[in-house]
Amino acid sequence: MPRRLREEAGAWLEGARRRAETLRPEPVVERFGRVTRTGDGVVRIEGLERPRLDEIVEIEGGIEALVVRASLGEVGCVLLDRGAEVRAGARVRATGRVVQVPVGEALLGRVVDALGRPLDGLGPIAAERTEPVERPAPAIVDRAFVSEPLTTGLLVVDAMLPVGRGQRELILGDRKTGKTAIAVDAILAQKRSDVVCVYAAIGQKSSTVARVIEAVRASGPFERTIFVVGPAESPPGQQWLVPYAACTMAEYFRDRGRHALVVYDDLTKHADVHRELSLLLRLPPGREAFPGDVFYLHARLLERAAKLAPGLGGGSLTALPIAETQAGNISAYIPTNLISITDGQIWLEPRLFHAGQKPAVDVGLSVSRVGGKAQPRVLRQLAAHLRVDYAQFQELELFTRFGGVTDPRMARTLAHGRRIRFLLRQPQSTPFSVTEEAVLLLALDEGRFDRIAETRLDEARTAVLERVAPEAETLAPDWLAGAEAPEQRAALLAAIDAALAALAAEAA
Ligand SMILES: Nc1ncnc2c1ncn2[C@@H]1O[C@H](COP(=O)(O)OP(=O)(O)OP(=O)(O)O)[C@@H](O)[C@H]1O
Ligand SMILES: [Mg+2]
Repeated sequence: MPRRLREEAGAWLEGARRRAETLRPEPVVERFGRVTRTGDGVVRIEGLERPRLDEIVEIEGGIEALVVRASLGEVGCVLLDRGAEVRAGARVRATGRVVQVPVGEALLGRVVDALGRPLDGLGPIAAERTEPVERPAPAIVDRAFVSEPLTTGLLVVDAMLPVGRGQRELILGDRKTGKTAIAVDAILAQKRSDVVCVYAAIGQKSSTVARVIEAVRASGPFERTIFVVGPAESPPGQQWLVPYAACTMAEYFRDRGRHALVVYDDLTKHADVHRELSLLLRLPPGREAFPGDVFYLHARLLERAAKLAPGLGGGSLTALPIAETQAGNISAYIPTNLISITDGQIWLEPRLFHAGQKPAVDVGLSVSRVGGKAQPRVLRQLAAHLRVDYAQFQELELFTRFGGVTDPRMARTLAHGRRIRFLLRQPQSTPFSVTEEAVLLLALDEGRFDRIAETRLDEARTAVLERVAPEAETLAPDWLAGAEAPEQRAALLAAIDAALAALAAEAA
């Protein structure tokens, strides 16, 4: 044997002997229990000592379940996989692990389930690490004020209900009022930003989720988006985990000084799944059970949205939770809970939706509490009176519905109001840039649309967007950045006038 090898072997033996001497063998306590009842995706277990909430237990045959309820003597678990055959009497072993999901860059552009397993057939995900799905929210001292905008590309939101990075803004409305469309448009708008998007689909039809994924693939920041999907046909345990898993994946970016946007679509369905699990586990309703605990459940989730202090990298996590109302009942239990947890709500009104006013945002009942500070200055200045003007117009319109308006000043106000309403309409999947929004608002504010017949407003908007907006950065860079710059503003206005005059000449 060569000398070097002999020496190495000797050194290794020496080390091994030392390790053996200092080794203090300790008993390993394995905790076991037995399944007493099972069915509908839940399992109840008896005899498991010191169970931990969120702990994974392994049932005979390698089936994993999640501890969601531990009371005296009995433990309630939800199964994490469909089709797992569990029989009463099966042995259960506690693993001491909590549910973790993979996090990191590798997830970007992927579609995964609540446990981070790929659903897109693109092969395994080489994640750099895993993190628990339940993580504490940042403490107050670790946070900063919301100060940067998260532009959604929707004029009605960016002008009147601005959202800031780190904010929680609820999207609320009846069935089929365009809730998902608003959130998806906000994701599409991030094509122009550096924000990482996470779309969490809870209890939805697979076809609906597929449409969202396709929309983002077609015109959004697909390679910067993660889709976490627990469709209606997946086990309730998985649907229940989706928002937490999505949040953990987004936090990875928040905690590294980057910016993330999470859409929870939707938390009403999440509350339903939670209720279903509570009933299956036969928990008596009460403060610590459904419905009392839903508030705590959702508050804990949404608290994880934050703008972090500069010392912690200054990253942010913005949350757009969605909730569905029944027949416009904004004061039902789940909507009220969520309204009280979030920093504002975008309320969608079926009446507006059916009248063709889409996005059907009811400006009067919607509010954004912290985003105003983060709104780009140019938009803040232009939109300052918009809300009041619009509200006044709506009231005026109501009063003058049955009689002709003879006062010319009143007629002008009404005409202007109708132009505001027109500009707040926006086709789906066409987010505007801040520059485009500023140019449109400038034309509106200066009454440039008031002279145009209502039937031709669409063309006028297109003309301004196509002929003026591309030049705006050169014509008025400082004004767009929020400076006074009156001569730049005038130059932009002249360009708008020229574009509209050209349009009129073409039509004549
Ligand atoms: N701005 C818009 N312009 C035109 N069509 C729109 C707009 N927003 C939404 N829609 C259409 O309205 C329909 C309902 O939209 P969406 O699915 O977003 O509503 P929802 O409230 O999320 O519905 P659900 O209650 O099923 O979740 C869709 O067909 C969508 O394409
Ligand atoms: Mg929807």
